[in-house]
Amino acid sequence: MSDSETSETVPAHDTVDASVLVIGAGAAGARTAIELAERGVDDVLVLGKRGHGDAHTTWARGGINGALGTHDPDDSWAIHAADTLNEGHFLNDPEKVETVAKQMPDRLRELDEWGMEFSRTEDGGIDQRFFGAQSFRRTAFAGDHTGESMLNALVDRAQELSVPYRENVMITSVLSDGDRAYGAVGFDMDTGEYVLFNAGAVVLAAGGYAAIYNRHTSREDENNGDGPALAYRAGAELMDMEFVQFHPTGMAVDESDPEWEPWSGRLVTEAVRGEGGRLYNAEGERFMERYSPKQMELDARDVVARAIAREVAEGRGTENGGVYLDLSHKSRSFIRERLPRMYERFDGLGVDMASEAVEVAPTAHYGMGGVAVDEYGETGVNGLFAIGETMAGVHGANRLGGNSLAETVAFGVVAGERIAGRVDGPGRIPERVLDGVAKPQMRDLTALAGRDGAHEVTDVFADLQDLLWTHAGILRDEESLRAGLDELSALRESASDMDVGPITSDSFEFAVDVGFMLTAAEAVLRGALKRTESRGAHYRTDHPDVDPDWRRNVYFERADLGGMSAHTGTVGTPSEAVQDALDEGHELDYHQLE
Ligand code: FUM
Repeated sequence: MSDSETSETVPAHDTVDASVLVIGAGAAGARTAIELAERGVDDVLVLGKRGHGDAHTTWARGGINGALGTHDPDDSWAIHAADTLNEGHFLNDPEKVETVAKQMPDRLRELDEWGMEFSRTEDGGIDQRFFGAQSFRRTAFAGDHTGESMLNALVDRAQELSVPYRENVMITSVLSDGDRAYGAVGFDMDTGEYVLFNAGAVVLAAGGYAAIYNRHTSREDENNGDGPALAYRAGAELMDMEFVQFHPTGMAVDESDPEWEPWSGRLVTEAVRGEGGRLYNAEGERFMERYSPKQMELDARDVVARAIAREVAEGRGTENGGVYLDLSHKSRSFIRERLPRMYERFDGLGVDMASEAVEVAPTAHYGMGGVAVDEYGETGVNGLFAIGETMAGVHGANRLGGNSLAETVAFGVVAGERIAGRVDGPGRIPERVLDGVAKPQMRDLTALAGRDGAHEVTDVFADLQDLLWTHAGILRDEESLRAGLDELSALRESASDMDVGPITSDSFEFAVDVGFMLTAAEAVLRGALKRTESRGAHYRTDHPDVDPDWRRNVYFERADLGGMSAHTGTVGTPSEAVQDALDEGHELDYHQLE
């Protein structure tokens, strides 16, 4: 293509250089940037889709794990790792699990130094509470607003280090030739201007994909699969996408009531159960006695979620399709101190947690799968990293509550350290990548803006979320997954003919999201179909048992002609220290709480 052709057909755009481009401004992105800045890397740039300090991390509630041993001095990083592997049904990468467990005591102390407002013990230590399926009280917390407090501390630290940050930018493509990443392209959501980022390394800290389900705990405009889809399109592999965590306790509400409807599926933190909350069915039976007499309400999330779903399916659910979660045996002052946001939220809706139960039902919460990365968080594309919920490998088939915030800061440090040792300025985007990726992407965005199609973006978005809930929900089987893939093809057609507003409109943002969601949805459906067993959060009614031969990860890479090509790979073995902890057989006994 000649220069004159190029200038005629490529929309005007701004070009920005950065040594390291961090896409995503939640805890994982912020911690990576801090590590880079502390190691003297100049010109790091953090991009956020929203205002500074406003990221999905702020919605994380109940806590962050680390074997500090505040109350239980027998706890150790090795037992933390063993609990994580056990609940991940040994599909986790043991090396990544150990990285997180070993780092966390230091990461917690560091957050404390940086001003995170941890809840305290009487003698001023970092308090730790019970969380599901963990052998000891290992979950540090700030009331029930842990994520918000953590992000505030990270943002303050990043500002102290003068880390540059750019708000309201949406990235739509990573610039890569399949072997190496050179930057990214996107648009300023306020002005509509296209921006070409030229970077020496790119870090995707852009969240997960749980919001591709219609009932979920994420903010509506986040966790739509941006991170995994951006990496996949750039040539990286996806892994274990079929493992989607359904948190047992999302709000179950009367959806015909406009005051309650927006709260449907919103998180009721596990900390309610960690502080002693009990689950009852509509017949007043404490039904977890039947499913898990030892760990009760604090068994792993997949176990509790399936138990609730079964109670509801067998006719013992509440009017709003849930069960009751009751903490009214605790004093009002206790609830207000330990769970202030939950108390206030329900109080605002006219429910007094100190005297009555709340209604809850499972809700999509977290994608254990994501981008396949090495031990430093680097994908198969040189210079492209994926961390936090965007990456796969730490959580296996089911995540422990409190381990997602832990992973963000642990891998932020690991990736930051790795990149700092390698990066040397922004580099230069090769002409073939500019012509083959960046310019076509800007042209595609121009064609999308204002497209006068037959389908409303919001309808396609909602249909896709319904499809996932119906065909790849808590229980799956071959017939339903195949039907889901057929419906997905039809939705792809609708998505190519949407009625889209101008580039600065919400409908444009959601139209871009639909593209990400389609990629994530296809990988979830295909992965769930391929895995002919049940393990952790993936439950196949037509293959209800764990199959030891399936202790393998499922990977997806882009095939020729754009198809998804699957293969499987083996999982590593734990170190001796972790194997010893596994052999010791630690386990939570819920009855300590009573
Ligand atoms: O229930 C919760 O507070 C969620 C915590 C987590 O997913 O780690």
